[in-house]
Order: sequence, then C-alpha cells, then structure tokens
Amino acid sequence: MKGGEKFVLAVVGGLLVFGVVRTSMHVEEPHESDIPYYSTASSDLARRATDIYRANTCRSCHSLWSMKDVMQSVPAPMLDGIGSLRTEAWLYEYLSSPNPQSIIPTRLKKKYQMPSFAGMSEEDRKTLASYLASLKVKDWYLEQTKKEEQEKLTGVDSSK
Ligand code: HEC
Repeated sequence: MKGGEKFVLAVVGGLLVFGVVRTSMHVEEPHESDIPYYSTASSDLARRATDIYRANTCRSCHSLWSMKDVMQSVPAPMLDGIGSLRTEAWLYEYLSSPNPQSIIPTRLKKKYQMPSFAGMSEEDRKTLASYLASLKVKDWYLEQTKKEEQEKLTGVDSSK
C-alpha cells in the first residue's frame, strides 16, 4: 500500500469511529436542553406563511416557536411540530372547512373555537398548509411525549 492510500484509509477509519461514537453518544444524551421543533420550509415559504399567520391573528390563540399573544389565554393546541401529526392535505382541508368542528370536535365556548378560514384565498390556505406541514418534531421527543401520556393515563412507567 502506498503512503497516500494509507493516509486516506486512516482518515476514513477515523471518520467512521468518530461517527459511531457520536451516534452512540447521541442515543444516551439527555435531551432536555435540545429544542425538539424544527421546520423544513424554505425561508421564502416561511416568510410568506408568517405574514398570513400574523394577518389572520392565529397568534392570539395558538403558540408557535414559543410565541403567543400574552393578552389571550385560549386553550388552543400549540402548532409547533404539527406537521409530524397532520399531513399537508389534512391541514388544507381543515383550514378550508366551513365548520372545522366537524373535523375536530370541541368542548370550548364558541369564541375560543377554531374559526373557519374558508373565506381566505386559496393561495393563502395552500401556503399556510404547506408551512404548517413543514413544522416537525424530533422523533425522540414524540416518543418521550407519548410515553409520558401513556404513564399519565395508565400510571405505568413503560421504561421499567
Ligand atoms: C379564536 C382562537 C383561534 C384562532 C384565531 C385560530 N385558531 Fe386554530 N384552533 C383553535 C382551537 C381552540 C383549536 C382546537 C379545535 C377547536 O376547539 O375548535 C384549533 C385547532 C387548529 C389546528 C388543528 C390542530 C390539531 O391538533 O390538529 C390547526 C392546524 C390550527 N388551529 C391552525 C390555525 C391557523 C393557521 C390559524 C390562523 C389562520 C388559526 N388556527 C387561528 C383556536 C384558534
């Protein structure tokens, strides 16, 4: 083997070991300090969607990226990670429905319920649906949340 080849092998080997160590460290890492939410949207889509989101006062009920109007205390679901739970097509249907409560039933007072955005332009509904679908939650957080919910409901710690 030539010197150059040995060098390349050493570098590749080093990278492999580093990768394995990093992966195994990643599994054991406590995640509390990580932010589990991210978006796969282009900056252009994010900008356009944020404008629509702001103009339609979604913020007065929902929190997204930890932002919510402080004046309101509507118990609306937070939208971080919503794209891991709902598809773009579902979100478009929901925003387009003349009666969103026929899709998600609610026990809230009328003034707190999800308003219909059927009157919004089709383009805006598409942009919002596409952006909302891009809001993801990391797998470990979803698993952890599911486990916690399960424990709350059953009183059983499934990790033991
Ligand atoms: C008046 C408060 C209010 C406003 C304004 C509002 N929402 Fe909602 N939204 C809710 C509530 C409450 C729910 C839960 C269903 C219900 O109770 O009607 C909901 C549900 C949703 C859901 C479904 C969440 C899930 O669990 O799948 C999405 C997506 C959503 N809203 C997006 C939006 C967007 C985007 C806007 C702005 C265009 C908006 N909402 C404006 C109150 C609001």
